[in-house]
Amino acid sequence: SRTAAVIPAAGRGVRLGPGAPKALRALGGTPMLVHAVRAMAASRQVSLVVIVAPPDGAPEVRNLLDEHALPERTEFLVVPGGGTRQESVKLGLDALPADIRAVLVHDAARPLVPVDTVDAVVEAVRDGAPAVVPALPLADTVKEVEPGAPGEPEPVLSTPVRSRLRAVQTPQGFDRDTLVRAHERVAVSGEGATDDAGLVEQLGVPVVVVPGHEEAFKVTRPLDLVLAEAVLARRRA
Ligand code: C5P
Repeated sequence: SRTAAVIPAAGRGVRLGPGAPKALRALGGTPMLVHAVRAMAASRQVSLVVIVAPPDGAPEVRNLLDEHALPERTEFLVVPGGGTRQESVKLGLDALPADIRAVLVHDAARPLVPVDTVDAVVEAVRDGAPAVVPALPLADTVKEVEPGAPGEPEPVLSTPVRSRLRAVQTPQGFDRDTLVRAHERVAVSGEGATDDAGLVEQLGVPVVVVPGHEEAFKVTRPLDLVLAEAVLARRRA
């Protein structure tokens, strides 16, 4: 049975500042999305990569991938995305061929995840876990607040015990049928989640955490681009 990776790459990336869609911004001269596709293709376990492009950008993304070298054995498909990350992932899942039993969902915005992290997630799914997320302990203490008007001080409601918290990354790995069920349930209930594992939790299916990696950080704000360039430069040194 084969494993596929779905890469939602349809976001505008407004927090990064003005410019092209985030996934198409260059890192070390190569679009972030190409790094993310290569990071998935680097795992010998991944035989298909489904890229979810901006709704009107599928032809452009297809050209981009044709221009950049990917491993010979990697098959890829490009499909148009939706208005939210969740819709984009669902559209990617809809495109999977029947023989795919395990699925990774990986943000294009995490271009530098090391192959060992990818392999560890796939392995845990193949060992029988229906849902696996890579995650790291937090450096910052986290407060729950009562969100107020912008610029106004916000009352603190609680402080979760930091040692029990994890910041989750991608690729998150799933038994295909479990993830499809989770997305279908949400399509009906209208409830959302900020990651795919969150949807699976809502089904009552157990989710487990494996160690993530510092270099799997999400490129969200301008400072993240500086860090990503530095990581790439160090790898190339
Ligand atoms: O905006 P954020 O950084 O949370 O996006 C996470 C990932 O989801 C990115 O790779 C982004 O391209 C993708 N996304 C998407 N479709 C959307 C919004 C975000 O594929 N409508």
